[in-house]
Amino acid sequence: MQKMSLDTQSWRDLDARHHLHPFTDHKSLRTQGSRIIVRGQGVYIYDSEGQEILDGMAGLWCVNVGYGRKELAEIAAQQMLTLPYYNNFFRCTNDQAVTLAHKLTQLAPSHINNVFFASSGSESNDTVIRLVRRYWALGGESERNIIIARKRGYHGSTIAGASLGGFAAVHEQIGLTLPGIYHIDPPYWWGLGGDLSPEEFGLKAANKLAEAIEQLGPHRVAAFIAEPIQGAGGVIIPPDSYWPQIQRICQHYGILLVADEVITGFGRLGEWFGSQYYHITPDLITVAKGITSGYIPLSAVLVGDRVALRLVEEGGEFYHGYTYSGHPVACAVALKNLDILSEEKLLEHVKQEIGPYFRQRLAELADHPLIGEVRSQGLVGALELTPDKKRRASFPGDGKVGLICRDFCFKNNLVMRAVGDTMILSPPLIFTRQHVDKLVTLARQAFDLTAREVL
Ligand SMILES: Cc1ncc(COP(=O)(O)O)c(C=O)c1O
Repeated sequence: MQKMSLDTQSWRDLDARHHLHPFTDHKSLRTQGSRIIVRGQGVYIYDSEGQEILDGMAGLWCVNVGYGRKELAEIAAQQMLTLPYYNNFFRCTNDQAVTLAHKLTQLAPSHINNVFFASSGSESNDTVIRLVRRYWALGGESERNIIIARKRGYHGSTIAGASLGGFAAVHEQIGLTLPGIYHIDPPYWWGLGGDLSPEEFGLKAANKLAEAIEQLGPHRVAAFIAEPIQGAGGVIIPPDSYWPQIQRICQHYGILLVADEVITGFGRLGEWFGSQYYHITPDLITVAKGITSGYIPLSAVLVGDRVALRLVEEGGEFYHGYTYSGHPVACAVALKNLDILSEEKLLEHVKQEIGPYFRQRLAELADHPLIGEVRSQGLVGALELTPDKKRRASFPGDGKVGLICRDFCFKNNLVMRAVGDTMILSPPLIFTRQHVDKLVTLARQAFDLTAREVL
């Protein structure tokens, strides 16, 4: 392994001089300096100063089986020696991609029997747009090309992914976003629910889809895309009334339903897919991150029979594919990662053991003066920071309090992320009760310190 050995300051200087980080205010990072992460083991990461940090975010919602898994490293090395790369174009395939495609269709809902591989969630969502438009064009309805998505939805950072995403500030920086994408409100009860009960609000939020379809013209709407639980938008967990109504509306209008399961796939909600948790039957499912537990880039679109049959039977050549579609090393790592999830019964662990405990312990934080709503499902959760719980009020300053809290967490060696003034968590699925206890203790300390500054 090539390794430079530098002290922390030298790493920071080099980083500041040469490295443009994702989603970062570069000027302020360069004055503050970055934290240099050098190692990971289990649920902990370690920085260049030797600090042990509890990773409450599983990297970026992805290191589901935890850090330091020898089996994943070994399988990657073996596959690199056997076949490090070959493309899946020109009537070729490779054994790892075929095995993984088969395996994924066994885990997915039964109407899903085909898989298209890519290397990131963003690329897969680009593929989704291509598939959706192709599906309707092949059916003689090219004018059906509008995709409805949601505000606060996150679908990646390519122009297609970011256009699907529902963040106005991102759209402004893109300038010309992809046309034909329309955003409706999310099922965000804490922020938008007003006087309605969560269930009433869930229906109201779902009905926004029907209203949008009517407004845009049912013959022009191709698909609805949504995360089962909105992650990067602030872990928005929909009320129980939401998804059944969305499914009914999609069926009623005949539009395709796309579930972006880049976060909810592979066990985070205690099922292989969030679609199974919510009993929905999407035509397309986007997966990435947890498919390899982040050890190597890989993503996929799981393609339901409705779309796949038309594409295969009537489509001719589909002019779409990536150099690394079905990369043999990434697919081999994914297969091993899926084995680990099964052998260690991590889905059952989330569903029956650690998910309920995480929910119970997190809920205790609702007694803190700074915390409004606490919500969680499986191993994903959110805590709303508020100056006034009763009114569900927001702090002025556009997320400043969230950043203060995040910085206190970071100083205290806990990774908890802030989305505006919502603190979010998504720990590795191997979390134990002791890890949850430690997380809750560190989080409470950060809330105390934050409250002292802002309340
Ligand atoms: C739901 C969802 N979709 C898509 C993406 C984009 O994935 P990537 O960063 O691999 O392109 C993300 C990333 O966080 C995500 O959370």
